[in-house]
Amino acid sequence: MLTLTQVELVQSSFAIIAPIADDAAALFYRRLFEIDPSLEPMFKGEMAEQRRKLMQMLTAAVKGLPRLDRLVPVVEDLGRRHAGYGVADEHYDTVGAALLWTLEKGLGTAFTPEVKEAWVTVYVLLATTMKNAAAKELSAA
Ligand code: HEM
Repeated sequence: MLTLTQVELVQSSFAIIAPIADDAAALFYRRLFEIDPSLEPMFKGEMAEQRRKLMQMLTAAVKGLPRLDRLVPVVEDLGRRHAGYGVADEHYDTVGAALLWTLEKGLGTAFTPEVKEAWVTVYVLLATTMKNAAAKELSAA
């Protein structure tokens, strides 16, 4: 369950990162490929473009949290596209770990246990929505 306080914590902490979005995204991908180097070849496009797209999507998701009815279909589409990129369920844990690590680095002391908990809740929500949409797509194929 995502509480209003958690939505606010995620939004206010993301606002701290926003001015350094590209650096944060670079840190994220460096960490992701450090944890699992086998993921790197899955990214076929320009990484500068990928950093921009990731931060744009996260910005939209964070902003959209108070209106989950409108956010969920967007995230489901994203999940279906990810199935097409060859992304498997277990990859979401690795990405989640890299994301939390990046937030910890970017936020420093602002990454309180409450902020961490709020981000875990939001990430699990996004990842579960993506995985479920991808699974439905695969079972329908
Ligand atoms: C909440 C989780 C995630 C978010 C918000 C996210 C966001 C995005 C966005 C916005 C794109 C651009 C293309 C598009 O919109 O379809 C993208 C592409 C991609 N993502 Fe994700 N993603 C997530 C999870 C993952 C995971 C778990 C993996 C597994 C390694 C992954 C691997 C990729 C790959 C391989 C591409 C295509 C890159 C390319 O074409 O070069 N993503 N992601």
